[in-house]
Amino acid sequence: MSVRRIAVVNGPNLNLLGTREPEIYGTLTLADIEARIAAYAAERGIDVRCEQYNGEGQIIDALHRLSMWADGIVINPAAYTHYAIAVRDAIAAIRVPVVEVHLTDLAERARSEPFRARSVTAEKCVAQVSGLGPDSYLRGIDALLAHIA
Ligand code: DQA
Repeated sequence: MSVRRIAVVNGPNLNLLGTREPEIYGTLTLADIEARIAAYAAERGIDVRCEQYNGEGQIIDALHRLSMWADGIVINPAAYTHYAIAVRDAIAAIRVPVVEVHLTDLAERARSEPFRARSVTAEKCVAQVSGLGPDSYLRGIDALLAHIA
């Protein structure tokens, strides 16, 4: 099956990328990252939609809605990764594969912040990519393509 549509969903505080703790998350804005995603997808003939929400319910609604449009979804659930069972359940509920991505290396960060070790959402995803900065999104798309192929 050829993939024509991929959605990228970003979670809370990622709208502040660029100024949010730049020593951790870098200086690229979310718009910069979305432009890279769009270029990467366009090279491959993929339609991509990028959305960002701070609210847990908004993310769940987006997953429900986007699953009716997309062949697969890349999600960075941000802090919801670590405790949001309702987001986990939404990923499990929809019929399209989901790949979880993180800018930072969760295992590395868990050494000082142990709560980052667990992803309740990745357990319902087909893959997780963590720690590659903005490239995590591109590798996430690759993982989705590989899964669906
Ligand atoms: C993050 C990692 C999470 O632990 C954190 O809460 C974030 C961003 C990342 O992309 O590295 O908000 O998802």
